[in-house]
Amino acid sequence: MRAKSRQACGTQSRPDSAQRGHGLGIVRVFDLSPRRVEAADMPFVVVNMSMTADGKIATGNRRVSSFGSPRDQEHLLELRATADAVMCGARTVDLNEIDMGPGPVKYRRRRLRAGLAEYNLRVVVSGSGSVNTGARLFKERSSPTIVLTTERATGRRLARLAAAADQVCVCGREEISFRRALVWLRAEWGVKRLLCEGGGELNAALFLAGLVNELHLTICPLIIGGRQAPTIADGVGVAGLADAVRLSLLSQRRIGEEIFQVWCL
Ligand SMILES: NC(=O)c1ccc[n+]([C@@H]2O[C@H](COP(=O)([O-])OP(=O)(O)OC[C@H]3O[C@@H](n4cnc5c(N)ncnc54)[C@H](OP(=O)(O)O)[C@@H]3O)[C@@H](O)[C@H]2O)c1
Repeated sequence: MRAKSRQACGTQSRPDSAQRGHGLGIVRVFDLSPRRVEAADMPFVVVNMSMTADGKIATGNRRVSSFGSPRDQEHLLELRATADAVMCGARTVDLNEIDMGPGPVKYRRRRLRAGLAEYNLRVVVSGSGSVNTGARLFKERSSPTIVLTTERATGRRLARLAAAADQVCVCGREEISFRRALVWLRAEWGVKRLLCEGGGELNAALFLAGLVNELHLTICPLIIGGRQAPTIADGVGVAGLADAVRLSLLSQRRIGEEIFQVWCL
């Protein structure tokens, strides 16, 4: 299966784990074969977001985006402990002091018990390559960081990304083809379960491409307003209800004043 996927993606071979580390360079993933992509070629994709009661994931000025309780934070780490890779959009990485890592040792032990690597892979999405490579994430070297980008990224930006990340994958001309990118992550980095932690632009692209399997949503007891405030799925949106992404509620639990929902797609 792995060999087939690698052929389908037309990528270079994945290096041995001993070789992994800073500076695996830039790969281009364009030649996805016309054969149908099987579910087994793709990671299971989980989106985890916390939002206010008025549906916002950050304030309009983007200064505040963390408003969940300690229980919500625990939920985030519990989910990370089940994922091979955690993925975020460029603005989420730029605006937050995040490392996208597994957190305290109890979660790392949980990962090892489940047969996962102690530290999850980290994936940053930046179609134009504008992500700030001075962000904390790129300084924290506990696990490989991969940037997904497009041919819109200039040579200079690609060089900057390649210097900061462990690998840069160019997987689209104008827009990222997430289908290709996910097949590549599965085949080359062994990502079976991918946790996406926003923001709204990235989530919208994944939802509308039909690539999300599960949505974990924490509804927090706040109203923050703001017509410019991001939501769990932004982007251009659908033109009509026929194109809306349909969800089915798997579970819902109230803990304190928060509601923890799990939706499947
Ligand atoms: N409450 C929560 O749970 C939560 C979680 C995460 C984030 N947030 C907040 O949400 C806000 C960020 O959300 P956001 O929607 O503005 O940004 P985002 O999704 O984090 O990042 C957007 C950027 O990611 C890249 N990108 C996303 N989708 C792409 C696609 N389909 N193709 C190519 N590139 C793509 C682009 O980078 P380039 O510009 O480089 O092309 C785009 O400008 C922040 O305030 C953050 O703190 C809240």
